[in-house]
Amino acid sequence: MNEQPRATSVVVAGVGAYLPQRILTNKELAQDLETDDAWIRTRTGIRQRHIADPEESTSDLALKASERALTAARCSAQQIDAIVLATTTPENTFPATAARLQQKLGVGKPVPAYDVQAVCAGFVFALHSAWNMIRLQQARRVLVVGAEIYSRSIIDWTDRSTCVLFGDGAGAFVLEAQEKTKEKTQEKTQEKTTSATQRGILDIMLATDGGFYEQLYVDGGAGSSDRVGHLKMQGNVVFREAIDKMSQSVALLLARNGLSVQDIAWLVPHQANSRIMSGVARKLGIEEARVVSTVEDHGNISAATIPAALDHACKQGSVKKGDLVALTAMGGGFAWGGALIRW
Ligand code: COA
Repeated sequence: MNEQPRATSVVVAGVGAYLPQRILTNKELAQDLETDDAWIRTRTGIRQRHIADPEESTSDLALKASERALTAARCSAQQIDAIVLATTTPENTFPATAARLQQKLGVGKPVPAYDVQAVCAGFVFALHSAWNMIRLQQARRVLVVGAEIYSRSIIDWTDRSTCVLFGDGAGAFVLEAQEKTKEKTQEKTQEKTTSATQRGILDIMLATDGGFYEQLYVDGGAGSSDRVGHLKMQGNVVFREAIDKMSQSVALLLARNGLSVQDIAWLVPHQANSRIMSGVARKLGIEEARVVSTVEDHGNISAATIPAALDHACKQGSVKKGDLVALTAMGGGFAWGGALIRW
């Protein structure tokens, strides 16, 4: 936890998401693959995933999610001071997809715009970067985006143990500086701000353990081969470690902020597999009714799962102002992290 006094709170001013129109159901997948709807649903909870059109690129998905987040935040692209975009499937090897997004949004001025690569934990890493930029008062408004097109090249559509899990999509937050609200104590002379009342991001933790590099990776890339490569995964190890690391990250954040599991209104875990999400909730002692879930309809959209799930929850009216929301994700690396946000 940062011990320094914080001049401003960093609040989520707007959330947006975009899922491509084309839906690929389990039944359709089973036409060309030795699998079936019952197996996929029972083992993963996934019913369908969205697939980008051939003309759609990663920045197109990011653009639509960003425009929706900006509208929700009631601000224009010109009011953005930075863009941090998490992706594992960038538009081109370089420049950053964030640069293309900046161009398409019409930000109209030079601002820092860069990509973050922490695979399925990417959005939490991007959030951390944006949070600190605002806390350091180097920006007032930062657009944080997760955008992925797994379907186009890194998925091996003949590998039934991985291809059924993933989909395409994007989600975005607009983070904004807000003056801290101050509560008068009974003495009226002192003022206090506490994690029990303060809105905005309370804390974020990040970690990577490269010892798990080979358990979830893509076997190609610009620095090692002449091909993009395909996703390879040791599913059972990922499954076990994801439950442990995601639940531990939330427990650590609660402990170092003097909060308990009962304080959490909504848990928003990375949407990879409903059984992993249930395992995290069970370990933490949070009932399923407080877990936001979109994996059934979105599949795993990697860095985009958390903002897309939160967009869904906000639209449904389940996540409300003042709710304590816990985010957590784990992916390739392994990289993992969590965040506590007072909505
Ligand atoms: N359809 C039908 N059968 C399939 C299948 C599919 N799509 N995929 C694998 N199988 C088969 C396997 O070949 C295996 O057959 P075998 O026993 O004859 O060898 C059998 O199902 C059981 O495989 P297993 O790997 O033990 O299944 P599981 O219950 O562990 O579930 C995953 C597999 C992939 C769903 C699970 O390990 C998982 O979700 N892991 C985490 C994946 C993840 O979330 N990755 C991204 C994290 S960011």
